[in-house]
Amino acid sequence: MSAITVVGSLNMDFVATVPRLPAPGETISGGGFQMIPGGKGANQACAAAKAAGSGTAVRMVGCTGYDPFADHLRASLSAAGAEVVHVRSSRRHSTGIAMIWVDSEGRNSIVVVPGANQALVPADVESFRPAFRDSSIALFQLETPLDTVAGAMRLARECGALTILDPAPVQPLSPRLFAAAVLLTPNETEACALLGVEACDWLDLDTSRLFARRLLGMGPGAVVIKMGAAGCLYLDREHEILSRGFPVTPVDTTAAGDTFNAALAVALTDRAGMEDALRFANAAAAISVTRHGAQPSAPSRDEVLELARS
Ligand code: RIB
Repeated sequence: MSAITVVGSLNMDFVATVPRLPAPGETISGGGFQMIPGGKGANQACAAAKAAGSGTAVRMVGCTGYDPFADHLRASLSAAGAEVVHVRSSRRHSTGIAMIWVDSEGRNSIVVVPGANQALVPADVESFRPAFRDSSIALFQLETPLDTVAGAMRLARECGALTILDPAPVQPLSPRLFAAAVLLTPNETEACALLGVEACDWLDLDTSRLFARRLLGMGPGAVVIKMGAAGCLYLDREHEILSRGFPVTPVDTTAAGDTFNAALAVALTDRAGMEDALRFANAAAAISVTRHGAQPSAPSRDEVLELARS
């Protein structure tokens, strides 16, 4: 039995569908509203549990408040097959929430109010050790305090896990955070922000390659630039792999990046080669964007295998 451990956020998503994203100062009418389990960490744990084979356990490490959202979030993870015994509760915070607008082309804007995700402090890190037992992979994002992420990544590596850092929501990273990542997986916007270049939401292949090389020079073992519908570009010190995306019609891109990282972790845990693992991850992300919401959009293992083999 091997395990994938996810350290990160749990949020209840308040999702409104809108004809287009509102401009500053503008009021527009939404088409619908739903509360959906989310949070980048919990989304990765949920998607990994759904895509994992029977020999892989998925463990979530995080923090919620004591409120109905917390119960709902734990239930969503448990239903997907993820372990929640390492999710603690804070009496001083409410569970994290996110307000999300999704437009008619599936694009979104997200505001996160972190709440209890901020209560996952560096002093807690040593208590995560049991969660890394037998972990081949540990997944991280940036919706919990950065010092906690850095400490947990160090611990994960000490416990023998390969660390995958999703630098989202993007913010300046210390050299030790870059260096703690075996794999760094920004999307195009995040790659630009990490390099301090003008914001962009699309890169041509040559620019992606250049940016991946520059990010690699900042300390991670390898870089995967997630390029949405175009797929992804992998670069380490010896190899480059361009993995094409699958053509789909998106209805909601929320959590596509989370689903990609989760599926990549699953495939690598299954001992797939990097090329196959990237294809599996692209397939999972492609399916997720054809469905609404964060956790409900994560596909099953059979669905991902079927598309990846097509
Ligand atoms: O990546 C998508 C997630 O970002 C949403 O589920 C929301 O909770 C925010 O954390």
